[in-house]
Amino acid sequence: GMPSYVKIVEVGVRDGLQNEKPMVPTAVKIELIQRLANSGLPVVEATSFVSPKWVPQLADAKDVMAGVRDLVAEAKDVNSEQRFPVLTPNLKGFEAAVEAGAQEVAFFTAASESFVKANINCNIEESLTRYRQICKAAKARNIPVRGYVSCAIACPIEGPMSPMEVARVAKELFEMGCYEISLGDTIGVGTPGTVLPMLEAVLEVVPVEHLAVHFHDTYGQALVNILVALQMGVNVVDSSVAGLGGCPYAKGATGNVATEDVLYLLNGLGIKHNVDLKKVMEAGDFICNHLGKPSGSKTAVALSKI
Ligand code: HMG
Ligand code: MG
Repeated sequence: GMPSYVKIVEVGVRDGLQNEKPMVPTAVKIELIQRLANSGLPVVEATSFVSPKWVPQLADAKDVMAGVRDLVAEAKDVNSEQRFPVLTPNLKGFEAAVEAGAQEVAFFTAASESFVKANINCNIEESLTRYRQICKAAKARNIPVRGYVSCAIACPIEGPMSPMEVARVAKELFEMGCYEISLGDTIGVGTPGTVLPMLEAVLEVVPVEHLAVHFHDTYGQALVNILVALQMGVNVVDSSVAGLGGCPYAKGATGNVATEDVLYLLNGLGIKHNVDLKKVMEAGDFICNHLGKPSGSKTAVALSKI
């Protein structure tokens, strides 16, 4: 049945801003993270320790982490369960992240060979080998590790993906030690018609309490796909304040489902989340004003008119 509590993983500062054209100043990113943390969001992905040639928007990862160091240190406090994970595509990134104060990391592969090649310049098997190295290093330091499977529905290059292949990669990530596997509809093309069989296949090999869903909202299907995932018992949902973001490999692909819209859905279902919607909306206003664009959240737009 439906979960009574859903953990929201806020990915707007990372997934959102990595895909917004303008370079956002470090100070703005830091203030955005602070505002999102202040809304009660349990997880705020802070940045990525990736090659600045591949993702110039996040080249300031070290300085962003320095700016939220106090928040991250406070989050270690037993009274706080807030986490500020960062993306690391290889051991080099992992070491830089730890040096910068990261207490949790996430890495990312995909069900599609072409996407992995385009995104991290290796094949799926090589990516798994790299991530086993990160897992080993992370375990020695007691750092929790999250794994992403991109193209869980379709690949911008190869088209529809087989649920069995998504399940195979998810199982590998789980077995190497990821405490959570996030299934990404990277280009936002899924509907319940494709999401349901994908989740069924993954649930055969990874227990539901270790799964998260990560829907981009290109075709406006993210909320209905989230409902399907909730009905299957998934209780971790990735989302992005104001629906920030896009995808560099898929023309016209939009950002993640908006955090505000997910909160509105959860409120309607009576599912607990411990996040202050109004404060998330204010954080959304802050970053949208900075970017000079309207919010991608229907809930934020509607509530701001009341
Ligand atoms: P490569 O060119 O094959 O790497 O890139 P390399 O090992 O040959 O190194 C090339 C250069 O990069 C060297 O520098 C390295 O030192 C440097 P140079 O000698 O040329 O000056 N380098 C690094 N610098 C900083 N941090 C590092 C690092 N590693 C090497 N960690 C690499 C391979 C993986 C580095 C590259 O492809 C990369 O950084 N890719 C990241 C792509 C990315 O961030 N994509 C977006 C995140 S995934 C996503 O958004 C999907 C998700 O949201 C889920 C979904 O929606 O499905 C998670
Ligand atoms: Mg994404």
